[in-house]
Amino acid sequence: MYSIAYISRASEALTDYEIHEMMLSSERRNNLFGIKGMLLFKDGNFLQVLEGTQKQIQELYDKICADSRHSNIYEIFHTELRSPIFKEYNSKFNLITSSFELASLKMFFKRQKRYGAFNTSAEELEPFLGMNWLT
Ligand SMILES: Cc1cc2nc3c(=O)[nH]c(=O)nc-3n(C[C@H](O)[C@H](O)[C@H](O)COP(=O)(O)O)c2cc1C
Repeated sequence: MYSIAYISRASEALTDYEIHEMMLSSERRNNLFGIKGMLLFKDGNFLQVLEGTQKQIQELYDKICADSRHSNIYEIFHTELRSPIFKEYNSKFNLITSSFELASLKMFFKRQKRYGAFNTSAEELEPFLGMNWLT
């Protein structure tokens, strides 16, 4: 398993509707191909985690990086994973669009930590989830 996480800035030209459509089609496509992870959007910023085989993730990420709908891509991690986070979470690609969904993901991280199942990638992601995204 392989995973990439990043934050980026949405293009100013995008409407809320276009962002919503892009997120829904990403969710649909990823679930069709068995790519797991999450996508969150708030105040013009994206946070995305992609989890899958190295080939799948690298090919998708190359496409995403070339997408003019966002810029200022900052990688949080880009790594092989021994214990995939989202496979454990619910084994699908998640759009995080409500504070409830964000809270349940944070709760999952907390539980993982308590049981000593936390991996380094999850640790690197945690501060970004703690940002003022959906409050
Ligand atoms: C912030 C952001 C995240 C994206 N995430 C995904 C994604 O998870 N899965 C996906 O298939 N496309 C995603 N896309 C869209 C891809 O960049 C690309 O437009 C899409 O995969 C269609 O590519 P194709 O028609 O050239 O194959 C994302 C785009 C942006 C701007």
